[in-house]
Amino acid sequence: MNNETSDQAFFKNFAIITVIFILFSIFITILSIVFASNPSKENHKDELISLIDKRTSPISNENLSSNPKIKSTIQLAAGAPSDASNSGEKIYKMVCGSCHDNGAAGSPITGNQSQWASRISEGIDHLYDSAINGIGVMPAKGGLASLSDEDVKAAVDYIIEKSK
Ligand code: HEC
Repeated sequence: MNNETSDQAFFKNFAIITVIFILFSIFITILSIVFASNPSKENHKDELISLIDKRTSPISNENLSSNPKIKSTIQLAAGAPSDASNSGEKIYKMVCGSCHDNGAAGSPITGNQSQWASRISEGIDHLYDSAINGIGVMPAKGGLASLSDEDVKAAVDYIIEKSK
C-alpha cells in the first residue's frame, strides 16, 4: 500500500464517521425538540405543584371536626356538649363535680344521702329548676351557661342516682 491509497482510505473512513456523527446529532436535536414541545410536560408541572401544595399545606387546613372522636373532645374542651353522647356523668365530672364532689361552697355532696334526702323530696322538677337557674351560692347551670337544659337535667339525674 503506497501513501496515496492509505490517505484515500483514511479520508473515506473519516468522512463516514463524520457523517455518522452529524446524523446522530441531528437525531438528538429532533428528540429534544419532540420532548421539549410535548404538551403533557406542562400538565405534569401543574400536577407536581399541586402535589407539593398539598403536602406542604398547614395541618390546620384539615377539617379536624369531621373526626367524631376529635369533635366530641373539642366540644368537651370548649364546654359545649350538645349531642346525646355527653352523658350526665360526663357533664357532672366536667362542671358540677368541682363543688358537689367535696361540698365546696356549702353544696350538698353527691352520694351523701342525708344531705340530699330533703332536697329530693321537693321533687325532681324543683331540682332541675334550681340547677338550671341557680340557687343560693350555686350559679345557673353550675356556671357554664353554654350547657343546654337537657345537659343540666342529665347531670341532676346522675347526682340523684348516686345520692338516694
Ligand atoms: C360553684 C359550686 C357549684 C357548682 C359548680 C355546682 N353546684 Fe350545684 N349547688 C351548689 C350549692 C352551694 C348548692 C346549695 C345551694 C343552696 O341550697 O342554697 C347546690 C345545689 C344543687 C342542687 C340542689 C338544688 C335544690 O333545689 O335543692 C342541685 C340539683 C345541684 N346543685 C345540681 C348541680 C348540677 C347539675 C351542677 C352542674 C351542672 C352543679 N350543681 C354545679 C354549688 C355548686
